Amino acid sequence: MTGEDGKGGKGLVLGIETSCDETSTAVVRGGRDTLSLVISSQADVHRRFGGVVPELASRAHLEAMLPALQMALDNAQVGPCDLDAVAVTRGPGLIGALLVGLTAAKALAFALDIPLVAVNHLEAHIYANFLYFPELEPPVLAFLASGGHTMLVHVPAHRRYEVLGETLDDAAGEAYDKVARYLGLGYPGGPEIDRISREGDPAAVRFPRAMMRDHGYDFSLSGLKTAVINHVRKLRESGEEVRVADIAASFQAAVVDVQVHKITRAALERGVQRVVLAGGVAANRSLRERLEAELSRRGIRLYYPPMNLCVDNAAMIAALGWRMLQEGEVSSLEVDASANLPLA
Ligand code: KG4
Ligand code: ZN
Repeated sequence: MTGEDGKGGKGLVLGIETSCDETSTAVVRGGRDTLSLVISSQADVHRRFGGVVPELASRAHLEAMLPALQMALDNAQVGPCDLDAVAVTRGPGLIGALLVGLTAAKALAFALDIPLVAVNHLEAHIYANFLYFPELEPPVLAFLASGGHTMLVHVPAHRRYEVLGETLDDAAGEAYDKVARYLGLGYPGGPEIDRISREGDPAAVRFPRAMMRDHGYDFSLSGLKTAVINHVRKLRESGEEVRVADIAASFQAAVVDVQVHKITRAALERGVQRVVLAGGVAANRSLRERLEAELSRRGIRLYYPPMNLCVDNAAMIAALGWRMLQEGEVSSLEVDASANLPLA
C-alpha cells in the first residue's frame, strides 16, 4: 500500500520552530493539511525589556519544547511512530534559540529513525502562503516583513528566489517596536501602532519617506524612526501636547507609503499576477488595505495568510520541509544552526 508520500508513509511531518521568541510545533500532512499548530509566545518574558533578550529566549524555548511537542502530537491525534520526517528551522535567527529546536529535532529524527529536514526560516515564511492557499503557484512576488527582516523577493518558480531589495538598517517590525516603545505603547509595538492609528490623522505630521523615489528596492527606516523621536522630543520640550494617535498614524503612513510604492513597482516590473505577504508585519491593516487597493486596480491579486501563519510558526516549517523531502533534500544529523543563513 502506498500513502501520501508514495512510499507507504502518511506524509506526516513534525515541524519545529525556535528561531526567535516563539516556541512552535506542528504536524502537517502532505505539506498542505495542518493537523495541529502550537505557538507558545514568549512576549510576556520580553515585554519589560521592550525587545527580545536572546539568553532568556533560549531558556524559555528549553522549558516550552517538550510540552509543545507533546501538544502538537496530541492535537493531531498521532503518535511519534506515525511521523515520516522532522522539519526544523536551521536559521536565520538567534543562535542559542535555534539550537534548542535543532537539538530536539535531531534527537527525534535519530530516535525514530526518520529523516531530518533543516529549513530556512525566511523561505518558510514565504511558504506559509503556499500552505494556506493550495491553488497558489509561482511566479509570485513576496514581501517578507517581520521583527528581524524586510525583504522583497521575486519567486519565479518553487524554491527559486531573487532578492530584489532588503532593509539597509532597521527591519519593519523592529521600527514599529522601537517607535511604539518611545511613544509609551505596549509590546510588541506593531499591533499597538496599527490599533491606535485608527484613531489618529495620518496626515498630521509629514515624516520622511526614505528611498521612496530611488530606482532600487531597498528600504531604510532608521531615519524615519529618528524623525519621529525628534518630533516627539521637541513637542515635549516645548510643553506641547503629544498626540500619540496622530504621530502613530503619521509614522505608519510613512512606512506603508514606501512599502506599497515599492511592492507595486516591483510587481509591475517583474510582470507577476500575484503578490504574497509574509511575516508579522503582514498583519498590518493599513498595509493590507492600501496594497490591496493599489494592486487590484492593476489586476494583481494579493494573498496573505491568517495571523497564526504570518507570525513565526512551525506549520510553515513542516510544509516547506515536506516539499524539500519530496525533492530529496534531507539533512545529516551533523547539520549546524546558522544565525545569518541567507535566503538565496
Ligand atoms: O514574524 P514575527 O512574528 O517574528 C519575527 O520573525 O520577527 O514578526 C513580529 C513583528 C513584531 O516586530 C511586531 O511588532 C510586528 O511583527 N507586527 C506588526 C503587526 N503585528 C505584528 N507590525 C505592524 N502591524 C501589525 N499589525
Ligand atoms: Zn520570522
